[in-house]
Amino acid sequence: MKRLMVVVCVLFAVFIFAGENKLEIFSWWTGGGEEEGLLALFDLFHKYYPDVEIINAAVAGGAGTNAKAVLKTRMLGGNPPDSFQVHAGMELIDTYVVTNMMEPITWILKEMGVLDKFPKAILDICSYNGEVYSIPVNVHRANVVFYNKKIAEEIGMTREPITWTEFIYYLKKAKEKGYVGLALGDKNKWTSLHLFESIMLAELGPDKYNALWKGEASFNDPAIEKALEIMKELLEFINNDHAAMTWQDATRLVFEGKAFCNMMGDWAEGYLKTLGWTPGKEFGWFALPGTQNAFMVVSDTFGLPKGAPHRENAIKWLKLIASVEAQDVFNPIKGSIPARLDADKSKYDPYLTWSMNDFATKALCPSIIHGSAAPESFATALMDAINTFVSTRNVERTFQEILYIAEDNGYLTD
Ligand code: GAL
Repeated sequence: MKRLMVVVCVLFAVFIFAGENKLEIFSWWTGGGEEEGLLALFDLFHKYYPDVEIINAAVAGGAGTNAKAVLKTRMLGGNPPDSFQVHAGMELIDTYVVTNMMEPITWILKEMGVLDKFPKAILDICSYNGEVYSIPVNVHRANVVFYNKKIAEEIGMTREPITWTEFIYYLKKAKEKGYVGLALGDKNKWTSLHLFESIMLAELGPDKYNALWKGEASFNDPAIEKALEIMKELLEFINNDHAAMTWQDATRLVFEGKAFCNMMGDWAEGYLKTLGWTPGKEFGWFALPGTQNAFMVVSDTFGLPKGAPHRENAIKWLKLIASVEAQDVFNPIKGSIPARLDADKSKYDPYLTWSMNDFATKALCPSIIHGSAAPESFATALMDAINTFVSTRNVERTFQEILYIAEDNGYLTD
C-alpha cells in the first residue's frame, strides 16, 4: 500500500511538471559571442509562443568541454532536457542515437516540407538507418585564421599567406615587433586539437583526410608526422600564458592588439563582432595555409530526446530552428552560415559570404574535435595526446601515440 502511494505521488509529480508550460534548452553557449545568438533564438521563440517559459540550461565551456559530460549524465539518468545542442555526426549518432535515446524527427522536416532545403552532406550525418535525428541550425568553418589588420599592415603583410613558409614569415615578423604571433588559449584542451586537425588536413589533403574515417586510408602516413612538425614550428609563436586562457581570451588578444592572429572556428568571428569589430575593417581572415581547398565542417544541431518533459514545446523549438527566419536571426550573430540552403544571403556579412561560397565549392571535411568525424573516445584520446604535445613538442613520441589511439579505435594504421 505504502509503495503504491509512493508510485502515485511520483506519477502525480511527473504529471504536474510535464504539465508546466516550459521548454528546457541545453547548450554550452554562455557568453563571449555565443550566448547572444542563443538569446536571439529565445526572443524569436517568445514572439510566437509568449506563454512558454524557457529554461536556459547552458553549461559554460567552449566546445562543450563541461556541457557534454553533464548532458551524458542527465541522459543516462533519465533526466533529459527538452532539446540539446549536439554536433552533427558521430557525437550525435554514436553517443545518443545507436544507444536508443533519441526520437527520429524526419517527420518534422517532412511536415514543414523542408527535407530538401538542407545540404545533403549535413543531413546525412544527422541521420541513421534512414531517419533524421537532429536539425542543423548552422554550419561553422573550423579552419580559419583571423588576424588584426593594423598589425598585418605594420608587419608588411600585403596578401594573405597561402603556404606555411609565408605564414611563418609573418608570424616571425610579428614576434620581432613584440606581438604574439599566434594566439592560443588551451585552458580547455580542445583548442590544441582544433589547430592540429586542420594542420593534418593541410598535410593529408581533403581526400585522404576524409578517407581516414571510412577506413580507406591509414594513420600511418608521413603527412601526419609532418603535421606534428609544422605544429611544433607554429607553437614557437604562441603566447606564454596559453594554458591559462580560454578560446575567447585568445581571440581577445587579437582584438586588443596584442596578437597578430588566432586560428579558430568562426565562432571567433561572432565574438569579434560582439566586441564591436567589423569584418574586413579591423580584422581579416584566411583559410589555414594548405587548407584553401577544404572546409572543415562543424555543425550545431538540436534533437528530441526520448522522454523530453515538455515534448510539445520541444517540437515547437525544433520547427522554429529549422525555419529560414530563425536561421537568419541566429547565424549572422553566431558567426556561422545557415544550414538552410534557401536562407537570405543578403543578411550575411563579407566574412560569412566568403564562408558560404567556400561551403558550396570546397571539399567538406568533418571536424574531429567538434564531434563529426570520429567517436568521442577517439577525439578525447587524441585531444589529450595533442595537448601533451604542446608541452613536450616530441614529434616522434606523439606520432607513435596517435597510431596507438587510432589502432585502439579501429582505424587503419598500416
Ligand atoms: C563548437 C560549437 C560552436 C562553438 C564552439 C566554441 O564545438 O560547435 O558552436 O560554440 O564550439 O564553444
